Amino acid sequence: MRLIHLMPLIVLGLAACSKGTQQPDSDRAAPAAAPMTTEERLNAPANAENGQKLFMACAICHDVKEGVGHRVGPNLFGVYGAPAARFDDFAYSQGLLNSGLTWDDATLDAYLERPTAVVPRGRMAYAGEPNAANRRDMIAYLKTLQ
Ligand code: HEC
Repeated sequence: MRLIHLMPLIVLGLAACSKGTQQPDSDRAAPAAAPMTTEERLNAPANAENGQKLFMACAICHDVKEGVGHRVGPNLFGVYGAPAARFDDFAYSQGLLNSGLTWDDATLDAYLERPTAVVPRGRMAYAGEPNAANRRDMIAYLKTLQ
């Protein structure tokens, strides 16, 4: 009977002990290695280097060097600040041609999150990047292509 009453205390005590032994967050040699949350990343400056890594998913369709032409997608050198569908020698969708967009932080963010939401019958076969911090890093990378 007594033991049964004590059970919750014993369980709590065990939980507290195991917490106590797992405390070394502050003792860890490299606390900086802990991955940042999306919110923490958004509060920190954008990371163009990380954006360049993430661009691997885009590079299959997009060249980024000036004057080397297009792949399945148009060349992205100088795309930041430029009007959408700026090349005469690329077969853009009618949707992108008629979009009237200029590529800035807001329009790129929306397009990279969900291309079909911005250009409904567009030709960019890319599902979208759901993570806002990843999009911001990719846009920071696109800004370096000038
Ligand atoms: C499967 C191929 C493919 C992938 C992957 C892809 N794109 Fe595209 N992208 C295209 C095509 C095709 C277009 C032209 C769309 C249209 O005409 O509607 C385009 C258009 C664009 C444009 C507009 C360019 C302009 O001249 O107006 C931007 C910016 C862009 N893509 C960025 C990206 C980024 C950043 C990624 C990676 C996150 C990416 N794309 C992934 C094929 C792709």
